[in-house]
Amino acid sequence: MRKPIIVGNWKMNLDHLEATYCVQKLAWLLRDAHFDYSSCDVAVMPPFTSIRSVEVLVEADRLKIQYGAQTVSVTSQGAFTGDVSADMLAALGCKYVIVGHSERRKYHPEDDATLVDQVRAILAAGMQPILCVGESYDERKQGIELEYAVGQVNDITRDLSEEEAANMLVAYEPVWAIGTGMVATSKTAQDAAHAIRQHFATVFSAKVADSVRILYGGSVNSSNASQLMSQARDMDGFLVGGSSLDPEEFDKIVRLTQKAAKQR
Ligand code: PGA
Repeated sequence: MRKPIIVGNWKMNLDHLEATYCVQKLAWLLRDAHFDYSSCDVAVMPPFTSIRSVEVLVEADRLKIQYGAQTVSVTSQGAFTGDVSADMLAALGCKYVIVGHSERRKYHPEDDATLVDQVRAILAAGMQPILCVGESYDERKQGIELEYAVGQVNDITRDLSEEEAANMLVAYEPVWAIGTGMVATSKTAQDAAHAIRQHFATVFSAKVADSVRILYGGSVNSSNASQLMSQARDMDGFLVGGSSLDPEEFDKIVRLTQKAAKQR
């Protein structure tokens, strides 16, 4: 059984003081609700400058909330002004790193070769990549959305070993759904998650396909989380952007998702 996970992608929001407030509040809300972390992972992905504050809080209060980063350098150290290495993130207790978010692909020169190197750097540092894939509105109109998303997964993961592939998380995030309020239907999310899982079974093995956690992302909130989660059986949780910035809203999403996952 795969453990569901809800990941908050804060993007370029919440400085280190706001981050501390947000994680503390989220932890209190989940504690008050007797949230069972053993059956569901909860993670936040702060901007680089807030990660250390989150680490200090998590350690001091022994919180079970996990955290990670939104991108990483492909090199391990040296003269790369502005970059942050996988080892630096691992040293801060990061468990996950997002790879290939559509905003990174759009605003930065992150091509497939870079993403492959990022995945390798993250795995080598003992963390787990969350690979983002998903079609734009154009591909959807042409009816090639599944081939497109699966193709993106293949481009980045095909040369991994079985063990490395089993440590991947994939977030299916149709570009047209990100930050737009246009959430995918549960059928769309399920079809994509299923196609991606099948792909891992074909290229690697049934065991790998069974262990890869596949998330949906794009305008998830507390009004649509339950329905999406209960209907899409190949989906193991969410990557949540805007709605993860408000701890009360994120707490609701986390609890609704865990409940829906348990009931299906
Ligand atoms: P959104 O973003 O929830 O604000 O649509 C999701 C994401 O970009 O990961």
